[in-house]
Amino acid sequence: MTRYLLPDEPLGSLDEYFATDVGGLGLKRAIDIGPEATIAEVAQSGLRGRGGGGFPTGRKWEGVVGQGGTHRYLVANGAEGEPGTFKDRALMRANPYQLVEGLVIAASAIGAREAFLCLKASFERELEAITRAVTEMQEAGICRECQITIVRGPDEYLFGEEKAMLEVIEGKAPLPRLFPPYEHGLFATAPQTGWQASENEPGHVGRHESNPTLVNNVETLSNVPHILAKGADWFRSMGTEASPGNVVCTVVGDVVAPDVGEVELGTPLRAVLDAVGSGVAAGRTVKAVFSGVANPVIPEPLLDAPLSYEGLSGVGSGMGAAGFIVYDDTACMVEVARQFSRFLWVESCGQCPPCKLGSGEITERLERLEAGAADIDELSEIGAWLGKVTDGNRCFLAVEERLAVGSVLGAFPEEIVEHIEAGGCPRPRPLAFPKLVDLSGGRAVYDESVWRKQPDWTYAPTAAG
Ligand SMILES: Cc1cc2nc3c(=O)[nH]c(=O)nc-3n(C[C@H](O)[C@H](O)[C@H](O)COP(=O)(O)O)c2cc1C
Ligand code: SF4
Repeated sequence: MTRYLLPDEPLGSLDEYFATDVGGLGLKRAIDIGPEATIAEVAQSGLRGRGGGGFPTGRKWEGVVGQGGTHRYLVANGAEGEPGTFKDRALMRANPYQLVEGLVIAASAIGAREAFLCLKASFERELEAITRAVTEMQEAGICRECQITIVRGPDEYLFGEEKAMLEVIEGKAPLPRLFPPYEHGLFATAPQTGWQASENEPGHVGRHESNPTLVNNVETLSNVPHILAKGADWFRSMGTEASPGNVVCTVVGDVVAPDVGEVELGTPLRAVLDAVGSGVAAGRTVKAVFSGVANPVIPEPLLDAPLSYEGLSGVGSGMGAAGFIVYDDTACMVEVARQFSRFLWVESCGQCPPCKLGSGEITERLERLEAGAADIDELSEIGAWLGKVTDGNRCFLAVEERLAVGSVLGAFPEEIVEHIEAGGCPRPRPLAFPKLVDLSGGRAVYDESVWRKQPDWTYAPTAAG
């Protein structure tokens, strides 16, 4: 397998990037062939968004251009808040130059007047890397046509949701607005659809505009210079018909050496867990795997499914951002469901009452179930809430609650019965919640503050005060 996204050693300068077989050549070709042919090449490559949804990238670019209007914007999503996922940070640390080149290509293809590169303020190493790359590329005259603004965002999970990200760029809290970015983009002067009203676009005169905005994930954009430099056919020579190319995966949880690795799409998931995470400890077996907290569980018998969009949806789950959380045979699946549900409840913004209320009600019942204090009636109450938690949802977070939590209850009913019958957890064992702060050298550092975060987004004090 040929790796092209993650180099053996991090690239320390633009000169090192230019010395690779792609550095600068993607942009050169994009300029030579022009915006329309650039978009056609990306569409022809079959590249799909790596941020979670898997939407075809070329089609997304065409859609933004097709919306018309006078102003368009581009946003690179580097918020990386999905539990179990570290691949965007690994990419930005290892090669920020391919991301910036991809951003410049995308901006010129869609005719963006400005590009925003959004990261969490806490991602200090990645901010240093991309700031260095943007500065060096500007000094080399590569970004001259494209104004790039780096945005340091909040730690909230919703910051990574594209409609919330636009709000943050405009200086507001990460609460998803109503319409998608290609319909209601940055600094739109069309009617307001967010939680708070905002100023018109700076310097705006004339009729109201919706400023179609393209939002792409960091890994998606990092693929773009390679596709332009080497061609759509080269890209399609890897992966599968519906999922071409390579993907950068994260494997964490009950594995010997959690890590990030680049794999060819279509590789069996079981082999990926071994290759990237070094498998489970000796004597243990895998019980279940999740792709972040956004998709249904993949129980052990389904692990031979190919790691591809169609392969994982074929076993009732999904690719998500290819961040895989592994649980071995000692893990309690009720506790897993409780942790996922609590995370989503706390992170829900509350604009849609069934989402905030429902995820809270479900979490409370799962806590009682895990503690052995629930009866069978509470199980049907969880089922009823799962059925309506998505009512009127503005964003996908509520669907994640239904899919991920609902799937655990469906796949492991015997564990629920055991809790009720035993009046407690039959597999008491600490389980870390994999919201990643760092991941390198086979060691994962998780964010312990998730347990102190409250549903109103404040933090309970530590024991030390
Ligand atoms: C709650 C929530 C959190 C999300 N977090 C991220 C994130 O951290 N990074 C990301 O790229 N996409 C995230 N997404 C998906 C984005 O909304 C969007 O689909 C993506 O950035 C589009 O890029 P792509 O087409 O290149 O995949 C999130 C979605 C939801 C519902
Ligand atoms: S679905 Fe949930 S997280 Fe998304 S906007 Fe509504 S309340 Fe907020």
